Amino acid sequence: MLTTKFGEFTYDNPFMNASGVHCMTTTDLEELAASEAGSFVTKSATLAPREGNPEPRYVDLALGSINSMGLPNKGLDYYLNFALEKQEAIAPEAPFFFSVAGMSVEENIELLRKIEASNFRGITELNLSCPNVPGKPQVAYDFPLTEQILEQVFSFFTKPLGVKLPPYFDLAHFDQMAEILNKFSLTYINSINSIGNGLYIDPETEAVVIKPKEGFGGIGGEYVKPTALANVRAFATRLKPEINVIGTGGIRSGQDAFEHLLCGATMLQIGTELQKEGPAIFARLKKELTEIMTAKGYTSIDEFRGKLRSL
Ligand code: FUM
Repeated sequence: MLTTKFGEFTYDNPFMNASGVHCMTTTDLEELAASEAGSFVTKSATLAPREGNPEPRYVDLALGSINSMGLPNKGLDYYLNFALEKQEAIAPEAPFFFSVAGMSVEENIELLRKIEASNFRGITELNLSCPNVPGKPQVAYDFPLTEQILEQVFSFFTKPLGVKLPPYFDLAHFDQMAEILNKFSLTYINSINSIGNGLYIDPETEAVVIKPKEGFGGIGGEYVKPTALANVRAFATRLKPEINVIGTGGIRSGQDAFEHLLCGATMLQIGTELQKEGPAIFARLKKELTEIMTAKGYTSIDEFRGKLRSL
């Protein structure tokens, strides 16, 4: 019932982790592979391992989370070795996702050249939206730079590729970004990364709750669902049909998943709520989404995907 076709690949269900959550180590990744998730994605890798920002750098909040991790990761080779070793064990029709996030255009190109030259047969996600590296603005808020990077990437990269985008907040920006994205043979876009540079204050201590960047950090969870749904909807209605949309942001229940699918998402990523509940969440989300579909008389996701009604 939840079978999902994504590009040329078929997954048992649309649920997966959002990069950054439960995917730092090979143990985390093995746990995701063993869970009921339809797929999973690795932590965004840089060429060299990174420690990331000082702690505390992630805090769960009543309505979501705030984080400023600063791209801690074990480096490209660590994740690529895992991917090359494990990809045979995972059905070739359902390969997992590999995320990269360079600190510069040159690093992004080098990361992708290494993946291109490798035997990796999965899907690559180019993260253009990390809000948490001091001094490095989110790339995908710079439209000419985004186009320039994609031009360089598609001059040599031949494997399935998607981009992780930050949230946009203006219809003109949806139009402009969609026009750029439609120029390229992208397999997908992933909307949204956290809402960058929010501030959460503990009223008791009168202090911020995370250490980096004087408390400014990416906001996820329930706070961001309406923004995520708007971005999924805006891109699903503007992008050419070959470009899938992964819906990320505020999915805590089968109902949230249903709404993302109604907006046009194909796969669904879980960040904050996976951090709170652990990989057992995937079985719960599958059950809840199946129950909603059954109650509404749907037998496949394709029957309602993208069919959000206007008034
Ligand atoms: O700070 C981080 O590691 C987060 C990365 C991201 O949101 O892409």
